[in-house]
Amino acid sequence: MKTRITELLGIKHPIVQGGMHFVGFAELAAAVSSAGGLGIITGLTQGTPEKLTAEIARCRTMTDKPFGVNLTFLPSVNPPDYPAFMQAIIDSGVKIVETAGNNPQRFLPALKEAGIKVIHKCTSVRHALKAESIGCDAVSVDGFECGGHPGEDDVPNFILLPRAAEELTVPFLASGGMANGRSLVAALAMGADGINMGTRFMATKEAPLHDNVKQALVNASELDTRLIMRPLRNTERVLTNAGVERLLAKERELGAKITFEDIAPEVAGVYPSVMIKGEMDAGGWSCGMVAGLIHDIPSVQELIDRTMAEATQIIRGRLEKMLDA
Ligand SMILES: Cc1cc2nc3c(=O)[nH]c(=O)nc-3n(C[C@H](O)[C@H](O)[C@H](O)COP(=O)(O)O)c2cc1C
Repeated sequence: MKTRITELLGIKHPIVQGGMHFVGFAELAAAVSSAGGLGIITGLTQGTPEKLTAEIARCRTMTDKPFGVNLTFLPSVNPPDYPAFMQAIIDSGVKIVETAGNNPQRFLPALKEAGIKVIHKCTSVRHALKAESIGCDAVSVDGFECGGHPGEDDVPNFILLPRAAEELTVPFLASGGMANGRSLVAALAMGADGINMGTRFMATKEAPLHDNVKQALVNASELDTRLIMRPLRNTERVLTNAGVERLLAKERELGAKITFEDIAPEVAGVYPSVMIKGEMDAGGWSCGMVAGLIHDIPSVQELIDRTMAEATQIIRGRLEKMLDA
């Protein structure tokens, strides 16, 4: 399948694995890229620019296909050294960067200078248009159903994607709720040039996660996510668990008075406990409603191959036949 995204990124299939904290290590990124998609290493998970440089080098030993690096601009009192992380990415020779969380404008000149393609991930048409106007090469449009931070507008992809198609000139990826060939064909029908998957890639053999996490995704339904930190305007969609329900009880109790410190025990440092140690009740970790569509733990290659086969079957076997009837 050839789309503006496969052309722009030099990949075989229009399927991207979005950056994921404590998930997007070299193992997963390399597996996705080797299977013909675009794998993405999550920059901040590495902790320091030096470790990110080493992780990029490790990924190169696992795949000869292109992969990208995500840099997420977080709301933070003590922000990470973003310029140093970005410099490490540029120096590493990686040619695709996924930015998210805030406007990447200050880094665009250096990224362009280095010949790096920038995909900015955002949750609204206005932010997507802004990204286009500052020179981003593509955007990922994250609908309300997405795992992670859906923003505060709550527009689901059935509206957001066709709205993006109405307004944008640059290619865009449909993100949030994408799981299979049906998702891919629907996304293309709504004007996207490919899909960005997060949660679905967690339940794969190569995802370097504790088995409890993968099993939790298989067991979860589309009713099992919750929105946390909404009162702080930092909404995150997470899989429910005892820690998350504790956090939500605090939100109800404290109302508008709530501060980050009140909920820190249920969100700070949770990722390594969940992803590496498999402590499933530790607190909030991002998960999309798409959990309801996850029923198995295939290899990345199997997941991508069957997504493409299913998409082909839907287009040729189902949709074309409807027209020919
Ligand atoms: C566990 C997890 C961690 C994530 N961490 C990040 C992150 O650090 N930076 C980022 O830009 N997006 C992050 N995301 C969002 C994904 O890249 C992607 O946009 C999202 O998962 C798409 O929705 P889906 O889960 O329905 O496929 C995360 C998602 C998950 C599930």
